[in-house]
Amino acid sequence: MQSDLISTSLHERFAQAGRVLVLTGAGISAESGVPTFRGGGNTTVWKGMPFDVISSAMMMQRDLPAVWEWFDYRRSILQSLRPNRGHLELARWADRFPEFTLVTQNVDGLHQAAGSRDVIELHGSVWRARCVMCRTNYEIIPEVKRLDACLDCGAWLRPDVVLFGEMLPPGRFEMAAERAADCQLCFVIGTSALVYPAASIPEIAKAAGAFVCEVNPERTPLSDLCDEVLTGKAGDVLPLISKS
Ligand code: APR
Repeated sequence: MQSDLISTSLHERFAQAGRVLVLTGAGISAESGVPTFRGGGNTTVWKGMPFDVISSAMMMQRDLPAVWEWFDYRRSILQSLRPNRGHLELARWADRFPEFTLVTQNVDGLHQAAGSRDVIELHGSVWRARCVMCRTNYEIIPEVKRLDACLDCGAWLRPDVVLFGEMLPPGRFEMAAERAADCQLCFVIGTSALVYPAASIPEIAKAAGAFVCEVNPERTPLSDLCDEVLTGKAGDVLPLISKS
């Protein structure tokens, strides 16, 4: 992929920016082998159920073991996967800008595995369980049998992932929105921009005057709002931006 893909305007802003925010979606993990939910005209199906049914609050009320089985499957895929060039590039960006905020919709933990710190996980993490009663969090460690019940209050544990039909955990979106309203440069990488409120973050940045750049092999509902659209895979495009 040619470096002239990157405009002079983006090149200059990247060189001068002090406050940068990045929003990522499932697409940044695609090159690591993590299936995306949409994109390419397909949606993920699990045992005949669309992913947004098995990953829903309704399903958790009806059949928590089935929901756990889905997330145990997602973790089993992730266990052998590694961060890719896209994740690694963003981990380097954190040391490049005085104020860098990485917001992700992903629950796979690959940003942290790449070395990114203070990642705002809007949708939680498959590597954590949470007590349905006292909200105590428990880390889920590969090869170690997952707890079913809370050690503090004895109630059921559920995946610490935001399910369809649920609100985001208090504070995370608000922090991301605050940073978006204050950033000079906002990158939107590997998201179909269909799920709110996450998809509103680049809109907040744009409304506050930031330069917004999308990286995605496909156009999304957000593309028209962006100042620059870089059509390609994150692992190919992000190193080009850094080099530009
Ligand atoms: N690099 C960049 N983008 C890519 C790549 C890649 N290598 N491969 C695919 N994409 C793009 C696709 O074109 C698509 O637009 O990534 C996007 C993935 O979209 P989705 O699967 O819808 O994922 P996402 O936007 O993160 O979904 C949002 O919905 O399913 C829920 O909670 C789940 O967090 C998720 C939320």
